[in-house]
Amino acid sequence: MKVTNNIQDIRHMRWQQPAATWGLVPTMGFLHEGHISLVRRARAENDFVAATIYVNPTQFAPTEDLSTYPRDLPHDLALLEAAGADLVFTPDDSIMYPAGFQTYVTVEEVTRVLEGASRPTHFRGVTTIVAKLFNLIQPTRAYFGQKDYQQTAVLRQMVTDLNFNLDMIICPTVREADGLAMSSRNKYLDPAQRAGATVLSRTLAAGVAALQAGERDANRLRAMMQAMIAAEPLARLDYISVAHPRTLAELVEVADEAVLSTAVFFHRTRLIDNMLWQESQS
Ligand code: PAF
Repeated sequence: MKVTNNIQDIRHMRWQQPAATWGLVPTMGFLHEGHISLVRRARAENDFVAATIYVNPTQFAPTEDLSTYPRDLPHDLALLEAAGADLVFTPDDSIMYPAGFQTYVTVEEVTRVLEGASRPTHFRGVTTIVAKLFNLIQPTRAYFGQKDYQQTAVLRQMVTDLNFNLDMIICPTVREADGLAMSSRNKYLDPAQRAGATVLSRTLAAGVAALQAGERDANRLRAMMQAMIAAEPLARLDYISVAHPRTLAELVEVADEAVLSTAVFFHRTRLIDNMLWQESQS
C-alpha cells in the first residue's frame, strides 16, 4: 500500500493504469468499521482502491470541532492496509488549499435544509473537497456511507450537475450492537451519554415501524419521534425530519418512500442518523 501526500504521485499512478477501474473512499480519518466496510466493498468491485485521509477545514464552522477532531494516522493506515487499499492520499492544508485558493463548489437547494440549515457553510466545504478529490484521482466509483444521508444526496446532485464520470455507491450504515450508528464523534460521549445515544436509532426505527404499520401523516410521525427524543434526559433535539429521499423536502403525506432523519446534541456532541423507508421493501 502506497501512502503519499504528493499530487504528482497520484497523477502518475493513475496515468500508468488508464484502463483500470479505481474505487475511491474519501475519509477524514479516525476510521471505524463503517469506513472499512466501504473499503472492502471498493476492493471487491475495482482493480485499484484509493482512500483519502484529510480533515477538511472548509466543512467546519469556526465554532465546530476542527482542532479537536480525533486523529490516529498509524491506526488508520493499518486498518486500510488490512482491508486491501492500494493507495492512501494524506494531504495537508497547504496541498489542498494553497495560498491564493479561491474556487468553491456550491450545490444549492438540497443543501439548504437539515444539516445545511444547522451548519450553513458545511456542504460548500464538502462539495469543494470532494470535487477536488474526484478531479485528482479520477475514480470509476466513489464510496460513501448512508449515515451521512444528506451528504450523499448533495454529492449525487453535484456529480449529475457537473458531469463527473463516475458511479456513486452508497453503502448501508454500520451500527454498534445496540443500534448506535458508528461515527468518529461517538468517542466524545461519556458513558451516560453513550447509553442515551441509542435514542436516535430507536426513534428512527419506531418511525419506520409506524410507516410499515400504515401511518402516512408526516406531522404525526414527526410528533411521535420528537416525543421519543424528548423522553431521553441527556438529549437535545436539533431536528427531526420526514422528507423526500432525493429532494429532502419535508413531506405532509408520505407516499411510497421517505427518509427519516434526526440530529441530536448530547452536551456539545452532535450526532446524526437516518433510515430510509420504501413501501416496495416493507
Ligand atoms: O464524510 C466525510 O468524512 C467527509 O465529509 C468527506 C466526504 C471525506 C469530505 O471531507
